[in-house]
Amino acid sequence: MLPFRTLDTLNVSGRRVLLRADLNVPLKGGKILDTSRVREVVPTIQELLKKARGVIVMSHLGRPDGKAVPDLSLKPIVDVLASELAPIKVRFVADWSEGAVEKAASALGQGEVLVLENLRFLPGEEENDVELAKRLAGLADVYVDDAFSCAHRAHASIDAVARLMPAAAGRLMEKELAALTEALDRPKRPVTAIVGGNKISTKLALLENLITKVDTLAIAGAMANTFLLAEDGHIGKSLVEADMLDTARRVRSRATGLGCHILLPADAVAAAKLAPDQITKIVAANAIPDDLMALDIGPKSVAAMIALVRNSHTLVWNGPLGAFETKPFDAGTHAVAQAVAASTEAGTLLSVAGGGDTMSALVGAHVRERFSYVSLAGGAFLEWLEGVELPGVAVLRAPV
Ligand code: 3PG
Repeated sequence: MLPFRTLDTLNVSGRRVLLRADLNVPLKGGKILDTSRVREVVPTIQELLKKARGVIVMSHLGRPDGKAVPDLSLKPIVDVLASELAPIKVRFVADWSEGAVEKAASALGQGEVLVLENLRFLPGEEENDVELAKRLAGLADVYVDDAFSCAHRAHASIDAVARLMPAAAGRLMEKELAALTEALDRPKRPVTAIVGGNKISTKLALLENLITKVDTLAIAGAMANTFLLAEDGHIGKSLVEADMLDTARRVRSRATGLGCHILLPADAVAAAKLAPDQITKIVAANAIPDDLMALDIGPKSVAAMIALVRNSHTLVWNGPLGAFETKPFDAGTHAVAQAVAASTEAGTLLSVAGGGDTMSALVGAHVRERFSYVSLAGGAFLEWLEGVELPGVAVLRAPV
């Protein structure tokens, strides 16, 4: 496979740079819940500004479906970016109308940053429209993609535009790809994957790929119930996907054939319902009473997972191990996360985590900074675990 191009080989001196960032931050009632995605693109912008004639930043926010939706304007996020980059001047062009963006881009001074309005206000963005890509490419001389978390989208600002001008990955994308490659393509063995979450159905491709790569796959969360029921376990009123039993059996027998050990929970913390401060009972994971449901892994399972972590040299983690948003069912995830952090700090483990709820579970366990790498990506991280070549990465590998 061709390596992807980086800033080390892209000449930006005296040139205007078009930078695809992922400023798609989580929002609630107009409030920004986490600014990590904004902060993490700052080093790339600062590096580019040392040589470039200005940086034009573009991103999407939410899913406005090709229409201008005022609540999804990038303006509040631009304010965060401006305060992170201060004293660098950050301008914003709130208008996609013909000529406005072009005028703002040509007025961009040396050492300045211009942010464009939400790309998904334009119908052509998600359609990977070449005319839109030409318009974007016309604003600058070179293109840099620092949005690994959008690399699974073949959109105009990710795919089509990168084919029209000299293009390379930014430092954040480079860091992310290096960590992911080290963890699954060139891992130091033994390599373990921990996969949690509710459904096998949404993670089937990921499980199928992981069993070809790892020595042990530890499965937890509600998806473990489906595996346990498939082996005639009794799971009480736990969440299960009754139509996935054959699939679970097939994954398990294929794993055995490939020499991949599957570790399922031995015990569970069970309660009558998913609600805070329930009376809980520790029960065997495959013998849950009819009136109870498994909501977290139990102490034997935690001990088995910690032993596994201590014996591994590489770990990939996706998905919480229990109903972590409701106390006390976050305890299993937290205990295993602490063990991963400790082995990482001791230098015996390379730990990479990411995807959907995983980041919030690890932030809740206060270990985010203590893993080797926690990805900012949701869907892109999952597709990468599925072994899919992401369009936003493939285009940066293509020969120029
Ligand atoms: C993400 O949050 O995963 C990326 O920004 C991509 O967003 P999307 O799923 O709306 O394409």
